[in-house]
Amino acid sequence: MKLLIHDYSRDEWEKVASDYEGWKVIADDGSIKPCTGCFGCWLKTPGQCVIKDGYDQMGKLIHEAEEILVISKYTYGGFSGFVKNVFDRSIGYLLPFFRFYKGEMHHKPRYREHKKMTFVFRGVGLTEDDKIKARKYVKAVATNLHAKIIDVRFEECQIDVVAEQTKKIVTVGKTILLNCSPHGENANSKKFLDVIAGELEGDVTNINLSSYVNKLDELADTVMSAEKLVLGMPLYVDGIPSLVVRMMEHLEKQGISNKKVYVVANMGFYESKQLENLMSMVRDWCDVCGIDYCGGTAVGAGGMMGAVIKYGSNGPGKNVYESLVTLSEKISKSEPISDVYTNANKFPRFLYFLECNSRMRKGMKKAI
Ligand SMILES: Cc1cc2nc3c(=O)[nH]c(=O)nc-3n(C[C@H](O)[C@H](O)[C@H](O)COP(=O)(O)O)c2cc1C
Repeated sequence: MKLLIHDYSRDEWEKVASDYEGWKVIADDGSIKPCTGCFGCWLKTPGQCVIKDGYDQMGKLIHEAEEILVISKYTYGGFSGFVKNVFDRSIGYLLPFFRFYKGEMHHKPRYREHKKMTFVFRGVGLTEDDKIKARKYVKAVATNLHAKIIDVRFEECQIDVVAEQTKKIVTVGKTILLNCSPHGENANSKKFLDVIAGELEGDVTNINLSSYVNKLDELADTVMSAEKLVLGMPLYVDGIPSLVVRMMEHLEKQGISNKKVYVVANMGFYESKQLENLMSMVRDWCDVCGIDYCGGTAVGAGGMMGAVIKYGSNGPGKNVYESLVTLSEKISKSEPISDVYTNANKFPRFLYFLECNSRMRKGMKKAI
């Protein structure tokens, strides 16, 4: 079976559908739900997603496919909201356990295979720089999925994002701390944003994106009113979670303007360097929207750092805590900062690796 994952519109698909007769096609029928980050695909129903919306068998489909073709709009250096949603819902293809590969942490494969993948990015006037970013991104995705990239191609196309140029009133000094994790109040992202909240004075509003999944218009109205936006989010499949990509696409369409954007991103593996693609995607979104990217903090070993951040400068969370305090100072002064990549303080990577694998084993036993 050949597998195609695409985000063509209905009209576009009608023109090319005959090229894919006999293929298994994953397209946007409007019913896909975002990943909730529950890890049910590892713990409860291994290999399958627990959200039964017709997109719950992605792990199995990838396994059964002899080759995979991914066609996506070039979106901030990565996939569109829909295609990213499909990838976020595919992590059951892997095992939860960590392993070291080419000097970095990755997941162990569930299946002994290297899927052949081809990527096609569609966009208007894509530059060499755009192409470099997209190639770098899919290389990271393929490394995580143990896949083999056959080709990365770029196609010129007409994409109809027309920003609405309605004038929005911005309250000077107003800061929104937007927790973009589906884990809501329990998220590591929220714990890091809380450190920042504790350092800021004045007009600060905390919002959970998870409360606005079907209310992006309402969220946009609130976000538009702030001068500064601090995005807290996890790394999902080497990039921005689909829910957040969709929010960004929406805000771009709504003509977001006059904003300073900061980011605090965290991830499961130890090395915060793996957040480079995500940080670059947030910057790209800002460039596309004409708003100011002001830098941020990338946090490795996010689960552990989230648990220890309450101890401030004492213990393994020291580096993360101190960089969040520095970031807060910059936010207060509305100044930019270079991205900072932080890792655990004096906590060896190997110990973290053993601890995570042991926790996953216990989680799996408990779930049976
Ligand atoms: C669908 C999905 C994909 C993920 N992909 C990655 C990844 O590519 N690299 C990584 O280090 N962690 C990955 N993670 C782990 C999360 O980044 C990590 O658990 C993070 O600490 C969650 O933060 P939060 O509580 O703020 O949501 C993924 C988690 C999920 C649910």
